[in-house]
Amino acid sequence: MEIEKAREIGFCFGVRRAINLLEGAAQRHGAVETLGAVVHNQTVIKDLERQGVNVVGSLDEVKGAVVAISSHGVGPQVLQSIQDRKLQAIDATCPRVRHAQRVAREMSHHGLYVIVFGDANHPEVKGVLGWAGGNGVACVNGEILLNIDKIPQNIGILSQTTQSHENFARFAASIVDHGLHRFKEVRLVNTICHATSKRQVAAIDLAGRHDLVFVVGGHSSSNTRRLLEVCRKTGVETHLVETADEIEPAWLDGKLSVGITAGTSTPDQAINEVLGKLQSLSDSR
Ligand code: F3S
Repeated sequence: MEIEKAREIGFCFGVRRAINLLEGAAQRHGAVETLGAVVHNQTVIKDLERQGVNVVGSLDEVKGAVVAISSHGVGPQVLQSIQDRKLQAIDATCPRVRHAQRVAREMSHHGLYVIVFGDANHPEVKGVLGWAGGNGVACVNGEILLNIDKIPQNIGILSQTTQSHENFARFAASIVDHGLHRFKEVRLVNTICHATSKRQVAAIDLAGRHDLVFVVGGHSSSNTRRLLEVCRKTGVETHLVETADEIEPAWLDGKLSVGITAGTSTPDQAINEVLGKLQSLSDSR
């Protein structure tokens, strides 16, 4: 059985940067607590735990003097609370997320109501909306959004960094197609991360050459789930696995070639273990 890795795979620069910052902070301070998971991948979280980096759900749970902000970023209200509590902050917010935060803040300052194309429950989206000062909403369906009566006439649209260009374009088009008569100004800024989109293009390319695809990554990782979505859209059977143990041998029945891709928060170790397991399953057939 042929096995091929996608040409763009694994850690992006934002995740690498966040992990380096946390490892350095843990070495300097002995222990560090992070506000939420620094990335949505259990292997990475457990590895960091061994080095003294622990996840807390809220500032109330912080026991030490140092708190780290994850790559997903936070809103200004959270930064203020960290200051009020006199905690030292290690800011691992990805620069691309920070860019989206600045875009939201500027849109709001210019009187635009901010619409974020993304998952309203994702920490990145909550943080970005925080920078809009409460003057905005997150949504993944443009038509549902237009059913809300109180949308102001001047709007700014941006995207969660891990969404796909195709879905963002469809979202923006549905707002313009069905709601342009309601608006005086519609400003759109593409805040989708380059690392995410490059992996999606490489994953689609890979899916076109194989009859089975594995996406390696955290089940709750937004960019990993997007890779699953774009591969499945090509019509190829695709499975998301966080570890090699999740592979079911029956998935390989009748398959001649397999492609592997991975989310931006997936460590090389997890990718190599999946590769190794597929190789041994292939050899045993
Ligand atoms: Fe940042 Fe993009 Fe990675 S937003 S964390 S470089 S996927």
